[in-house]
Amino acid sequence: MLRVAIDGPGGTGKSTIAKAIAVRFGLEYIDTGAMYRALGLKARRNGIDESDADAVKKMLDVTSIDFVSGHTHLDGEDVSGLIRTNEISMAASNISKLAIVRAKVDEVSRYLASTKDVVMEGRDIGATVIPDAEVKIFMTASPDVRAKRRYEQLLAAGKEADYDTIFNEIQARDYQDSHREVSPLRAADDAVFLDTSDMSIEENIDAVADIITAKTGRSA
Ligand code: DC
Repeated sequence: MLRVAIDGPGGTGKSTIAKAIAVRFGLEYIDTGAMYRALGLKARRNGIDESDADAVKKMLDVTSIDFVSGHTHLDGEDVSGLIRTNEISMAASNISKLAIVRAKVDEVSRYLASTKDVVMEGRDIGATVIPDAEVKIFMTASPDVRAKRRYEQLLAAGKEADYDTIFNEIQARDYQDSHREVSPLRAADDAVFLDTSDMSIEENIDAVADIITAKTGRSA
C-alpha cells in the first residue's frame, strides 16, 4: 500500500506536483480541496451562510460529491471549471471550518485511500485524514511566489486575475486555514518539509519523487 499525503497552504504547487507524481508512480490523485470548493459553490448558489452549521448540515444531507476521470462532480454535475475562482476559494475556506463538513470530506477521502494507492493533497491529510500514510510531505513557498503562481494559473485558464487581490486573498486564507478550531492547516510531526519557492516544477516533482523513493524504496 502506498499513500502519499501532500499538505501545505494554497498556491504552493501541490496540485501540479501531486498530479505529476500520480502519473509517475501509478497512483490515484485525490484533491481534497476540490471537495471543500464544491461544497462552498453549492452553499453560494443556494444562498446558504457558510458559517450556519444547521443550514449546511441540511445541505450536506442532500449532496453527493464524486471524482470522475479527474473531474469533480457535485450532485452529478461536473463543476471542475466553476470552483477555481477567488470567490469559491474563500467560500471553501469558510465552509471548511465546520466540523460536520470536515467529517464528510474526511469520510470520502479515507474511503478513497482505502481502495487504492493514492497521492492526496490538502491541509490536514498527514496530520488528521491519513495519519498512517507511508509518505507525508509539507510543501511551503513564500507568499509572493504563491500569489504569482496563482495569478499565472488563473490567466492560463483564461480567467481574470489581479495580483494584489490574489496576494491579499492568499494571506487571508492562510490565516483562516491555520487558525480554525477544527483540524487547522498543520504539518504532521513526521512530515518532510519542502520549500518550493526557488524550485522549477520539474525540480519539485523530482524532489517529491526522491522523498517517496527514500521512504518506501519504490521508484517511479
Ligand atoms: O487546496 P485548495 O486551495 O483547493 O483548498 C480550498 C480550501 O479548502 C482551503 O482554503 C481550505 C480548505 N481545505 C481544508 O480545509 N482541508 C483540506 N484538506 C483541503 C482544503
